Amino acid sequence: MCYFAGCTDTARKSDNARRVLRIHLDVIGNGGRIAREFAAQYERETGIAVELISERLNSSERLTQYQQYLGARSADVDLYEIDVIWPAMLADYFVDVGPALGKEAAEFFPPIIRNNTIGGHLTAIPFHADAGFLYYRTDLLEKYGFEKPPQTWDELEGMAGKIQEGERAAGNANFTGYLWQGKAREGLTCNVLEWFASQGGGRIVETDGRVTINNPRALSALDRARKWVGGISPPNVTDLDEDETRKIFEQGNAAFMRNWSYAYSVMRAENSPVATKFKITQIPAGDSGHFSTLGGWQLAVSRYSRQPEEAIKLAKWLTAAPRQEIRAIQGSFLPSRPAVYETSATAAAIPQIAEMKEILVNTVPRPSGPTTERYSEVSTLIFTRINKVLRGELEPGPALEALDSEIKRTLQ
Ligand code: GLC
Repeated sequence: MCYFAGCTDTARKSDNARRVLRIHLDVIGNGGRIAREFAAQYERETGIAVELISERLNSSERLTQYQQYLGARSADVDLYEIDVIWPAMLADYFVDVGPALGKEAAEFFPPIIRNNTIGGHLTAIPFHADAGFLYYRTDLLEKYGFEKPPQTWDELEGMAGKIQEGERAAGNANFTGYLWQGKAREGLTCNVLEWFASQGGGRIVETDGRVTINNPRALSALDRARKWVGGISPPNVTDLDEDETRKIFEQGNAAFMRNWSYAYSVMRAENSPVATKFKITQIPAGDSGHFSTLGGWQLAVSRYSRQPEEAIKLAKWLTAAPRQEIRAIQGSFLPSRPAVYETSATAAAIPQIAEMKEILVNTVPRPSGPTTERYSEVSTLIFTRINKVLRGELEPGPALEALDSEIKRTLQ
C-alpha cells in the first residue's frame, strides 16, 4: 500500500508488481512467444504481473500434471489452459465463469460453450478451436502430375506411395508418404476417430452412450492403418506425436501429414524449407464421408486460486477478440469467436482461413460427452491398444474385442 500523500508512481508500481497471476499453458508452435508478449502487455495495462508456467507437453502429459496440481489443491496456479475433452473430468476444480462472461458467451461458437458447460456451470472460456487437417506438398503433387489433393483414403494411399517411391529413387532415403500421430497418446485417439468415422466404423462410443468400437468396418479401417506403418508411413510413426511429425514434414521429408492448425504458421515462417510449398485440405474420406476431430483449448480458473476474480478478468482479456486475432495471425490458432475469421488481417495472414473454418464447423467431437469423467480412461485404453496393433504386437480383431469389453467395464 502507498501510505503517504504524494507518493510516487514508482512506489505505486512496485506495490502493484507484487500482484502476480500464474497461468499454466501450452507453448506449441508460436504460442509461447505470443503468450510472453501478452503477459508484458497485461502488466503494462493493469500493473498485474502474469507468470507463465509454460512447457511443451502433449495433451496426455499435461492432464497428468494438472491432476497433480489440482489434486493437491495447489494455489500456485490461477489459470489453466484445458483441452476440449476435459471439462466433464475436471469441472469440480474450476470456478463457474458463466456469470462473469454473461452475454459475451454468445460471441463464441455455441457448440464449444455447450461442451464447456457442465451441470449448468461454464467451466472454461474457449481460447482457441482446433480441427484435424491434411497438409500436402503442392510442389510434389505438381511434380508427380496430380491435379488435386487426395479426396479419399484410397487416393491418399496411391499418391503417397507414388511420391515416396519417386523421392526415394531420387536420393532422399528418408522421404515418407504420409505422417500422422501414432504415439500412444491422445493424438492417436483423434486419428483413430477420423479413420473409423469416415469408413463407416462409428465413433467408438456413440452420443447415446453405446460402445460401438468392435465392428467390421472399424476393423478394416484399423487394418488399413496398420499396413501404412513401414509402407507409406515410417516404421517409427508409432512413436511420433504432433510436433514430431510437423518437424519431419517441415524439413521437406513427407508428402502428406495429418495435423492441427498451429503447424500452419510455424511452417510458413521464412526459415521453413516448405514455407511456400504446402496447403491444407480435409482429411480424406471413406465411404461415410470426411471426418475431422474437434480439438481446442480453453481457459479455466482454479477453485484454489487466491484471486479468482482477477484470474477471470485475465481469462476474459486473453479470449477477447483482439487477442484471438493476434493468435490467429501469428500462430494460426483457430479463433473460438466466429467474428474473428472475418477480419481482413486474419484473412491476409492465413490465406486458407475460410477453408479451415469450414472444416472446423464440420468436426466430430471425441466421446468425451457420453463418457464424461471416464473419458481419459477410455481414451488411454484406446491409444494403448491401438498403438500395439500398429506396432505389430497385437492383431486388430482381438484388440477391438478386448477394447469393447474394457470400455464397457470402465463405463459401468
Ligand atoms: C491438439 C488438440 C487437442 C487434442 C490434442 C491431442 O492439441 O487441440 O484437442 O487433444 O491435440 O494431442
